[in-house]
Amino acid sequence: MEIAIGADHAGFKAKIFLIAHLESKGYGIHDVGTDSVKSVDYPHFAHAVGKMVIDGHADKGIVICGTGIGVSISANKIPGVRAALCSTNEDAEMSRKHNNSNVLALGARSCGPPDLVAITDTWLNTAFEGGRHERRVNQIENINI
Ligand code: RB5
Repeated sequence: MEIAIGADHAGFKAKIFLIAHLESKGYGIHDVGTDSVKSVDYPHFAHAVGKMVIDGHADKGIVICGTGIGVSISANKIPGVRAALCSTNEDAEMSRKHNNSNVLALGARSCGPPDLVAITDTWLNTAFEGGRHERRVNQIENINI
């Protein structure tokens, strides 16, 4: 599986940590940056990850900032992206089973490295359940107000 990953300065160290973990598990990694703890703006990295997923250059995406909120909002602006901000294993499991999330958003200031790894592993190893959830997921982009 190919994974696009991106973070701002607040998520940089967590990104490096997660990349090492994911590479040890055999995942292909596409790192869109940032490359240091120097302050940057998170939307650029979240958009780049979302675009890679939608363009088919990656199967799934991971975005990281301080809280995970900014990157999740930004990634969700790319049509077709379903970014889920997950702070527990249960969030990760349900976002896959019910929402077919294709981008995982993580908060590096809210979760320590062990939690980030556990949440990521749960997210990557949980399948979409389909069925009634498929109908609802299909409605997400059909805005009718
Ligand atoms: C950067 O200070 C911080 O605002 C950013 O990492 C993120 O938490 C925004 O949602």
